Amino acid sequence: MKLFSKLKSSFLLTAYKLVVGFERLFNKGVVLDFLSNDFVENPYKTYNSMRAHKPILFSQITRLHWVTKMEYAQEMLRDKRFSVDDRKYPIAERRRKELKKAGREIVLEQFENPSMLKLDPPDHSRIRKLVQYGFTNRYITSLEPEIKKVIEDCLDKIHNQDTFDLIDDLAKPLPAIVIAKMMGLPDQDLDKFQAWSEDLLLGVGGIGTTKEDIKKSGDAYEALITYFEKIILSRKDSPGDDFIGKLIQAEEEGDKLNIKEMYGTCLLLLIAGHETTTRLIGNGMFTLFKHPEQFDELRKDYGLIPNAIEEMLRYEPPVHATVRFASDDMSYAGKEYKRGTPFAVSIAGANRDPEANTNPEEFNIFRDDIKHISFGYGPHMCIGASLARIESRIAFEILFERFPKLELLDVNPQWGKNLIFRGFNDLKLKAS
Ligand code: HEM
Repeated sequence: MKLFSKLKSSFLLTAYKLVVGFERLFNKGVVLDFLSNDFVENPYKTYNSMRAHKPILFSQITRLHWVTKMEYAQEMLRDKRFSVDDRKYPIAERRRKELKKAGREIVLEQFENPSMLKLDPPDHSRIRKLVQYGFTNRYITSLEPEIKKVIEDCLDKIHNQDTFDLIDDLAKPLPAIVIAKMMGLPDQDLDKFQAWSEDLLLGVGGIGTTKEDIKKSGDAYEALITYFEKIILSRKDSPGDDFIGKLIQAEEEGDKLNIKEMYGTCLLLLIAGHETTTRLIGNGMFTLFKHPEQFDELRKDYGLIPNAIEEMLRYEPPVHATVRFASDDMSYAGKEYKRGTPFAVSIAGANRDPEANTNPEEFNIFRDDIKHISFGYGPHMCIGASLARIESRIAFEILFERFPKLELLDVNPQWGKNLIFRGFNDLKLKAS
């Protein structure tokens, strides 16, 4: 059995290398060789070469059309002709078959009742409207004292240590605790759902994903849905005033959202609410270490932090790509596409488009008029953007305040291997 899977993986690797070799020849040296260390280290170089060759480039190895030009990326995210609802297109049949074969009934049921992230209008607008009530600017700003307290508590725990892990000790727990509080989830479940959401992401955009990763991801998905089902059912009689309570009330009022959509919404908020902000804090801090003069400027004037965060988002975005489908046979940017054609809108590539930002390869916290789509664009634009901005701003302020001197222990930490999410699993710092 082991020999078989070894043979299978070496066969797949050989096939991968052949396709990459062929693409390199066919596209004049331009190829999305995502298994290469060079790509994991610096994917922007590849996206820049793709954009220069063709701003919409078909990559055989991913079976996706990659969009790396800002103008097209924004248009695709905004234009109704590009859809997010993969249930409607031929690609869904394979997913349904896979899930049935693997006996993943719960995942299949959720696939048929997706979260708003995977819904087109009118269902998207119906659910988004409900969720937006929980994310008004006034409410998010009112969370500041609580966010400060969470950060202080996290840093109190490492007070006597001269080294700590920015990811495990602050960047991971902070957004997870905040979103759990907003949703009204019990504190004692934190470790449990953090572990599940990490496992869940093993199946999303992973580079070199193994069979075990896929299994873990499916198990975690089921565990999370079962978890939310239990919580929601147990609270039906007294919904309360937190986010889940409000969703329960909306469901009971009738036609606003069904129970399956509620599970999907909770799952989306939990995952989107912390896996991304963790990476923003980690990627941002790492980038500052690589630009020590700007780090010094920031320490001197905290008023620069909000602009620095926008530049961090542009330069090292936590979400690198998102997918859209051609909703019909169409002509776009001078080419014909069939209904269901999948496009990878490269957030990372668009942010480095020289037509959008001058000197895009330069990290510059003083940059005016930063153009990025790191929170998306158009109708699906991130609902949690202001929360992520506040959490990361306060995190940087308190970190700089508490630790007048910080050093990166490993100057070349390993980037996670993923085509969708970019970040570190750990980032060890020395405090003095
Ligand atoms: C730095 C942190 C974050 C980044 C980089 C980020 C990025 C994104 C992106 C790129 C999208 C659009 C995806 C698409 O169009 O396909 C999105 C959507 C979304 N995000 Fe975020 N996000 C962050 C934080 C958060 C937080 C803190 C929450 C909630 C607590 C959140 C909740 C959502 C939701 C619900 C959507 C779906 C909106 C819709 O489909 O209408 N995000 N996010």
